[in-house]
Amino acid sequence: MKTEGNTILITGGGSGIGKALAHRFHDLGNTVIVAGRRDDVLQQAIAGRPNMHAMTFDADSAAGIADFARRLTAEHPALNVLINNAGIMRFEALDRQRDLGDAEATVATNLLGPIRLTDALVEHLGRQPDAALVNVTSGLAFVPLVAAPTYSATKAAMHLYTVALREALKGKIEVIELVPPAVQTDLTPGQATRPGYLPLADFIDEVMALFQQQPTPREILVQRVAFQRQAEAEHRFDEAVTTLNEMARKAREAQQ
Ligand SMILES: NC(=O)c1ccc[n+]([C@@H]2O[C@H](COP(=O)([O-])OP(=O)(O)OC[C@H]3O[C@@H](n4cnc5c(N)ncnc54)[C@H](OP(=O)(O)O)[C@@H]3O)[C@@H](O)[C@H]2O)c1
Repeated sequence: MKTEGNTILITGGGSGIGKALAHRFHDLGNTVIVAGRRDDVLQQAIAGRPNMHAMTFDADSAAGIADFARRLTAEHPALNVLINNAGIMRFEALDRQRDLGDAEATVATNLLGPIRLTDALVEHLGRQPDAALVNVTSGLAFVPLVAAPTYSATKAAMHLYTVALREALKGKIEVIELVPPAVQTDLTPGQATRPGYLPLADFIDEVMALFQQQPTPREILVQRVAFQRQAEAEHRFDEAVTTLNEMARKAREAQQ
């Protein structure tokens, strides 16, 4: 992927991983549009940075995404890179019947959102030089967190959707999967300071070095995520499920 001179949309670019990516791509000389639901957060992300732009949209709304894609391509016709980063993570207990609102919201934001936005922009991107599509999945796509089952399932689904997109768009749009391990952000309460999670700045340094490799790897895998990404290939999947969930439980308990 070309890493300068692009026009890049980053969903969820007002906070966490999206904001850090936005700033680093902007520093490299790209025009960057950040999008999400909270305008105040987006305005803070673009403050003092010419060639950064903010647009509000709700990834949960099919009609909203269609309208957003029209506004986006009208205002930024040079758009050639889409980074599907917006996401939510909710904890759910599977051992009793429950309100499925969290599960349904997770599917809407993490799975239907990027499917709809990619659909709305695929033809535009296909006409651009150096077009690229980056989907942000998770190490939990490969080894699930029992406490976040629907989240893990949406990320596993996005992994295979990304594999299919890569084949379907070969020669037109470069398709890259960014697979974060546990990183210190506000994705869940307390996570920004959770011990054992990768500091955001360290994560982004490693990610940007991988983006700048030519050719860019089709999967951006920092060292920390290999434990999950390679678990099945290395025939240690069951052990990885146990170890990961035990580590996550201890990290959460250490904060209580
Ligand atoms: N941090 C980790 O440990 C980790 C690990 C693996 C994968 N990831 C993935 O990395 C991505 C970024 O997460 P993060 O850790 O940086 O957390 P974050 O700071 O909470 O970022 C999530 C972003 O998504 C946006 N968003 C959520 N729902 C939305 C909606 N309906 N419409 C539009 N935007 C929406 C949020 O903005 P608004 O609330 O303003 O809409 C927010 O800026 C997510 O896909 C997450 O699953 C994170």
